[in-house]
Amino acid sequence: MTYQIVLIPGDGIGPEVTAATQRVIEATGLGIEWKTHLAGQIALDKLGSPLPAETLDAVKHAHATLKGPTATPSGTGFRSVNVELRQKLHLFANYRPARSLPGVPSRYENVDVITVRENTEGLYSGLEHEVVPGVVESLRVVTEMASERIARFAFETARRQSRKRVTCVHKANILKLSDGLFLRTCGRVAESFPDIAFDDCIIDAAAMKLVINPHVFDIMVMENLFGDIVSDLTAGLVGGLGLAPSANVGQGVAVFEAVHGSAPDIAGKGLANPTALMLSAVLMLRYLNEKDAADQIENAIRAVFARGEVLTGDLGGKASTQQFVDAVLAEMAKE
Ligand code: NAI
Repeated sequence: MTYQIVLIPGDGIGPEVTAATQRVIEATGLGIEWKTHLAGQIALDKLGSPLPAETLDAVKHAHATLKGPTATPSGTGFRSVNVELRQKLHLFANYRPARSLPGVPSRYENVDVITVRENTEGLYSGLEHEVVPGVVESLRVVTEMASERIARFAFETARRQSRKRVTCVHKANILKLSDGLFLRTCGRVAESFPDIAFDDCIIDAAAMKLVINPHVFDIMVMENLFGDIVSDLTAGLVGGLGLAPSANVGQGVAVFEAVHGSAPDIAGKGLANPTALMLSAVLMLRYLNEKDAADQIENAIRAVFARGEVLTGDLGGKASTQQFVDAVLAEMAKE
């Protein structure tokens, strides 16, 4: 079988980490037909739109998409390509695992926690308008349909991975209507999954608990902006953004990308840690049911870290992106 995979190189360190990840995927020997498409500023400059119709169409029809980070101008300019992509293709679930890697310096050991983030509504949608000069309003839309869909995804993930508990993270004590609906809906969905424990935690307390003892959580489900913030926090718990993968999943459409952004401070210098996107590719291969290829890459990455000799700058080492890729490829060749 030949998979058609859309590749969006993205901005900043995007082209460096996507090229690195392509190399390790190709080393698995899987048949892949890569289709490169543009998004973000470069697409705006060359094709007149930050998310051209041809990119959207290609993502929709591919087996999967591997995406580099795309920069979004702050406080001005075009709307986030990520938000647009997630909403237009109904990529309703954002799956963000944070798992400790052997040999990686971090505050805790054996962390294994998953953030399931609602990906299509909430504050992160950026529905804003100016009421009058000096007064703006942002809409935080929460629907029962999207809450139910994401809760189901969280419980199904728990069941598939033989996990024990789903925690709804929310602010329903203050946002009584919106997060009240989200919490109630999660509780209702939980009744269909009696084999999985369900509880809830207010977002501020959850942030504190995660920092003090991340082992108290298993799978956390939450609305969009909370998930955005909490998943950076959990990335920090296992060694930082250079290690955190993610999957945006809809009905038959999926986009795999790192949690991190375009890292303009290190772009073009060959210093980026490609692990986050490589682990996103592992999620992509599992989504495609290519378990052996996924294991091959994941085991090689873990073996490189376990030896602790090849670490990029974000982890306190001196290795370049290239040296890290070479180490992973050498490890894969051993298997
Ligand atoms: P960032 O994630 O790009 O960088 C934050 C810090 O982490 C920087 O010091 C950076 O050097 C470091 N870092 C991130 N990834 C790394 C890697 N792979 N290896 C080594 N160090 C790494 O966040 P920032 O600076 O807030 O955002 C930059 C741009 O990225 C913004 O325009 C933002 O909108 C965009 N962004 C895009 C995302 C996406 O396309 N999925 C996600 C997050 C941000």
